[in-house]
Amino acid sequence: MEQADVIIIGSGIAALQLIGNLRRDVNVIILTKSEIKTGNSFLAQGGVAASVGAEDDPYDHYRDTLEAGRGINDHEAVIQLTKQAPSVIGDLLEAGCDFDRNYRGELRLGREGSHSCNRIVHGGGDQTGKWIINCLLQKIGPNVRVKEHEFVYQLLTDEQGSCYGVKSKHRGGTKKTYLAPHVVLATGGCGRVYDATSNAETVTGDGLALGYLAGAELVDMEFVQFHPTLLSINGDIKGLVSEAVRGEGAFLVDEEGMPVMKGVHPLEDLAPRHIVAQTIYNHIQQGREVFLDITCIDNFTRKFPTVTRLCEKHGIAVEEGKIPVAPGCHFLMGGIRTDDVGGTTVKGLYAIGEVACTGVHGANRLASNSLLEGLVYGKRLAQHINHHSKEVISFQAPRPMEENREVILPSMEEIQQSMMKRVGIIRNKNELILQQEWLDSFSLPENMDTLTIGQISRVFMVITSKLITTSALEREESRGGHFRQDFPLERSDWQHRHVRLHKNRKQG
Ligand code: SIN
Repeated sequence: MEQADVIIIGSGIAALQLIGNLRRDVNVIILTKSEIKTGNSFLAQGGVAASVGAEDDPYDHYRDTLEAGRGINDHEAVIQLTKQAPSVIGDLLEAGCDFDRNYRGELRLGREGSHSCNRIVHGGGDQTGKWIINCLLQKIGPNVRVKEHEFVYQLLTDEQGSCYGVKSKHRGGTKKTYLAPHVVLATGGCGRVYDATSNAETVTGDGLALGYLAGAELVDMEFVQFHPTLLSINGDIKGLVSEAVRGEGAFLVDEEGMPVMKGVHPLEDLAPRHIVAQTIYNHIQQGREVFLDITCIDNFTRKFPTVTRLCEKHGIAVEEGKIPVAPGCHFLMGGIRTDDVGGTTVKGLYAIGEVACTGVHGANRLASNSLLEGLVYGKRLAQHINHHSKEVISFQAPRPMEENREVILPSMEEIQQSMMKRVGIIRNKNELILQQEWLDSFSLPENMDTLTIGQISRVFMVITSKLITTSALEREESRGGHFRQDFPLERSDWQHRHVRLHKNRKQG
């Protein structure tokens, strides 16, 4: 058993920002199921949205965020996020993060979908995540114990329902208990519950399931963002082609070179992501292909080294000017409901980054607001913990669990393919019910002690899939990332309603 003031599960931008802002006398344990540089944050291409341009204003950023989120966002949370954005960029610059600059030495601001001006700060062209993570890693001090290949499979809660620690399995099989008065989920989203995704292999919804099982409330789980442009080779998704490519002038065309987004939305190729993704999806469903025409971008390989490498790896020569694309799951707007410092409805348990639902994204996240959210909430939670770090915990031996009966679980591929088909870009009641019934047909084991990491991952994927499916069935309208064929319009009676899920509320 090991003890600390703070346990952080996950090692992306929100986790590292939290650590960087904690006092040096706060003892921290980071538990990550893979290695510290393997998550989604490290892969992030786009950048960080912040109104740092001379002509820009946090209010404009706020308005764009609400427009993308279709107004269901928490307005106060959006005001705070957009106001604090310039200062977190300032912190990173001060810490030596070398963002891209123009010939005058000013920050070179990029454009992405739905932004009313250029406001995306980026590093190394399309390597922003890597840039920031490397910068934040330098701030890790001796107060932090990093444990790689530790898979957290249970949050420990006492009789009052407060969280006081976690149970974890090392990939070698050893089980261990870690205790702390502050347990932080920073595990990212759940892109890998879908078979077409931009997300890292590790992003399978663990934190969402852990939080749910510990009694935390989840909200807005139906709002899943599908990114319009993932590299697609013969129908197989190979990785992200950043929206910044369209921000630099690339546009979507069909096999005949005809523009795909013309007449669909006034912002055309920079329309909100759900509109672009649905348009491409409809083309592909009709047996057609969609490409990004990049011929108008000078110095493409210098501006987009990650996209260039990805294309080359899969036999696409960017010099030819056409990248085949298809949409895939990118981001979860919903998650574990949190307050303004990342506190969940379970005492002692916090959530930051994509696993959390702070309310800032509403029904669809504005491009480059996710790294921003991780930076802002990581810092806020640090400030909160700095004032409460030395709280004591009353450790209770975890109650013994019954042995599981035979465990029958679907394969990862079955979960991913069925979620894409039935709870994907276009949804309807019949398909959602079919998926719900299928997911319900697996009786999930309560006792994870005796399961393998692979089995627990699949249990967590099933739980996360159920949460998305149930919420998608309940919201009988279309809004942002959630599109229902049988309710194709936004409905005013849903404008102020949220689907909230909790272990004690029966699903289905
Ligand atoms: C992208 O680079 O297109 C993704 C950025 C984001 O999701 O905000």
